[in-house]
Amino acid sequence: MKREWWHGLLGYQIYPKSFYDSNGDGIGDLPGVLQKLDYLESLGVGLVWLSPMYPSPMVDNGYDISDYYGVDPRFGTLEDLDRLIAEMKKRGMHLILDLVVNHCSDRHEWFQKAIEDPFGPWGGYFYLKEGKNGCPPNNWRSLFGGSAWEKLPGQENLFYLHTFAKQQPDLNWENPALREEIYRMTNWWLDRGISGFRLDAITNLKKDLTWADLPADGPDGMGSIFRSIDRMIRRDGGTKNGIGVFLSELKGRCFAPHDAFTVGEASHVDAGLLPEFIGEKGYFSTIFAFDAINGHIRGACYCEDDPYMDPDQWKQDVFRNQAVLKDFAFEANVVENHDRPRAASLFIPKEEYGFASVTALAGLQVLQRGLPFLYQGQEIGMTNCPFLPEEYDDLSTLDNYRYSLECGYSKEEALEGCARMSRDNCRTPMQWSDGPNAGFTSGSPWLKVNPNYPEINVKKQEQEYGSILNFYRRLVNFYKSEEYGEVLTYGSFEPLYEDQEKIFAFRRRLGEKVLTVFCNFSGSERFLSLKEDYSEVIFVNLPQVTRIGNNLILHPFQLIVTEK
Ligand code: GLC
Ligand code: CA
Repeated sequence: MKREWWHGLLGYQIYPKSFYDSNGDGIGDLPGVLQKLDYLESLGVGLVWLSPMYPSPMVDNGYDISDYYGVDPRFGTLEDLDRLIAEMKKRGMHLILDLVVNHCSDRHEWFQKAIEDPFGPWGGYFYLKEGKNGCPPNNWRSLFGGSAWEKLPGQENLFYLHTFAKQQPDLNWENPALREEIYRMTNWWLDRGISGFRLDAITNLKKDLTWADLPADGPDGMGSIFRSIDRMIRRDGGTKNGIGVFLSELKGRCFAPHDAFTVGEASHVDAGLLPEFIGEKGYFSTIFAFDAINGHIRGACYCEDDPYMDPDQWKQDVFRNQAVLKDFAFEANVVENHDRPRAASLFIPKEEYGFASVTALAGLQVLQRGLPFLYQGQEIGMTNCPFLPEEYDDLSTLDNYRYSLECGYSKEEALEGCARMSRDNCRTPMQWSDGPNAGFTSGSPWLKVNPNYPEINVKKQEQEYGSILNFYRRLVNFYKSEEYGEVLTYGSFEPLYEDQEKIFAFRRRLGEKVLTVFCNFSGSERFLSLKEDYSEVIFVNLPQVTRIGNNLILHPFQLIVTEK
């Protein structure tokens, strides 16, 4: 595998609205990020992904962009962003931004002009289609609920497509003029000194231009647009004639000339297509390894999902994923992001939450082969947050609640689903201290602060040697260390003890260097009859390593790394 500048780094996602508020308006901002760079450095972060900070009406918290060339005043100014880039460079850190080009905001100038003149040049930037006697052109359901079509304002029978909310009209990538606009903008940011992008909903770019109805998959008679996207990616057993045209152009015109790092939110790419998407010849540097963390998702509403991630299912998915990747590429390993519940709540039953379980999860994520990305607050073990129904903010949570009722679930069931799965769980303000509002803001926070902040916060964990935060620091030091960094980055990944329930073990091997990671991802003690001996224990989350003859005794949630 060709070596790249970003290999071996630790990624960290910042959701700016909830990270740190520097001016007391209750909203996190760029000067706030600047003030926390020492903190990020102390964690060993090398690559920061900043969720959208562009001007936006904030219908979807910035994923609805009304101007691609600026910074929303709530977050600061373009000068603040330049300062952030410069300060990060000084520290040897890289900044990547979120490239959201499947759709823009309905407030974007392009869409406003399309409304004025649907058949003029800007109308061609969107998918505008005649309806069927005032009804949508087909039965596609958007990902945030309801029809994926909305009447263009002022029109009787002309609709525009929106994969997500109706305030997020999809951009027409079939139109070369639109693509030129996007490339110009992408290069404008790269020329400003950022190191690359996280690519939002990037596998959604290609639409089924037959606009055929989908088989209905819900009581509303609609079919999820998800199916259509899926079909477009798999069409003809590959994508070279479909989405690949757009993606290779994007790479050739923007990413490659800048040696940019790109990580795709690419949920429809299955094993066979990976070599086309990532690695040296791929469209992107890497994609998030969602396959391995979506194993609990069962249906269209939260109510249908498993309440916890089954560790054995997770292990199997990770092993399958790693087997496919072998050595041609890395995936970006994640256990949480701004769209998911907190990993400490999803992977760990409430009664088992604690230092051991949270650090075991951390070890399994970071020591796998790939590029690890943490999400803000993960490093202190932040958890899901209890919300009253009226405290939810996220539009997709509200839609999921509505849709659950439509699917026949009771109010209680629907709310329980939201409590477990809402995206607001991980969007609550970062818990910096036990001061007012967890030290996030001196004003009134835009979203509820998790009431557990007096217990779970950065300041407290800075002071305790044995805290989750300090474990993360040791873990990242280990992952990047001179002695083990190479094997932990480039070493092969070999599953071990696959048939042992809730034992998650694997080997990393590079030449003569052989490390073994053993983890008991359960709340009860386990005996493991070792198949091969080791010479030294080099890393643990819990101190005592007990052996009786050939039996390794693994305490609840113990993680042990040995060297041969
Ligand atoms: C991606 C983002 C999500 C957003 C959606 C629409 O999935 O991660 O937060 O709502 O795209 O932009
Ligand atoms: Ca602010």
